[in-house]
Amino acid sequence: MSELKPRKDLLDIESLELDEIEYVLGNAVPFKQLFQRSVKKVPTLRGKTVLNLFYEPSTRTSSSFEVAANRMSADVTNFSVSSSSITKGESLLDTIETLQAMQSDYIVIRHQAAGVPNIVAKHTGASVINAGDGYHAHPTQALLDTMTFREVHPDYAGKRIAIIGDVLHSRVARSTSTLFHKQGIEVGVLGPGALIPEGRPDFMRRFQSWEDVFDWKPHAIYLLRVQMERQEGQFFPSIAEYHKMYGMNSERLVSMRKLGAYLMHPGPVNRGVEVTDEAMGYEKSLISTQVENGIAVRMAVLHWLKPETQKE
Ligand code: CP
Repeated sequence: MSELKPRKDLLDIESLELDEIEYVLGNAVPFKQLFQRSVKKVPTLRGKTVLNLFYEPSTRTSSSFEVAANRMSADVTNFSVSSSSITKGESLLDTIETLQAMQSDYIVIRHQAAGVPNIVAKHTGASVINAGDGYHAHPTQALLDTMTFREVHPDYAGKRIAIIGDVLHSRVARSTSTLFHKQGIEVGVLGPGALIPEGRPDFMRRFQSWEDVFDWKPHAIYLLRVQMERQEGQFFPSIAEYHKMYGMNSERLVSMRKLGAYLMHPGPVNRGVEVTDEAMGYEKSLISTQVENGIAVRMAVLHWLKPETQKE
């Protein structure tokens, strides 16, 4: 593999070169093997600092970055927006200037507005990692999803993934489908008409029913959470109706089993909406593996990015 160009920030999937994707996913494998050891730490980021800056709630991404940074021996600060001076009206750039003075090497940021990580990246020498911005992007989720799918399908090119649900409001769907497409994996989508974007990319095949989805013989079904917090207006009649039309229920589980398809979900899961308790126990669910791979991928991302604060 040729020498990679140094990269400071990870802001989206679109700008990633294939060799960069391979570099990150390739390095995530030995990082994951480390989890089997009694000592799960490497000294790679000793003396470096990672700032977790989450303006929106998160369980998986924030804790996964914290665990990843700890396993690389970095010092981690979790910045709590709800108890910070942001609640007193401090602007984003003033907050960044304050945090810059603390000389963090890596800033992991989640924000409700698309593009905020790009603004932060321009104003700091720290490496900025987008942990989800509005509807826009969630690049580490896409990388961990791809790692997870490639583990069960090492011959992944030409395989098929059906994404079901609220594609319109989903940064996960946007980033993950883009990365799957870059990997030669075919992507189809099913959801309420109002939640499937009009201007979706050409590579996203649209289905009208579960029957169409199963006829396509997907290798994985990727369920999305209905993002009520991002919906202004009514996109479907009711949650019960959504579950009936688009949820993974007993009947659809039988069809999945027949196909041998895997089940994926980025979390958090809304049981009784996009998935039943029974489906959560499906033997080919990759949901826990996605979480585990999230740590390995984030270690690989921290290892790869080069902050301008690093002089050596
Ligand atoms: N997948 C994901 O982004 O989950 P969190 O919102 O819990 O971080």
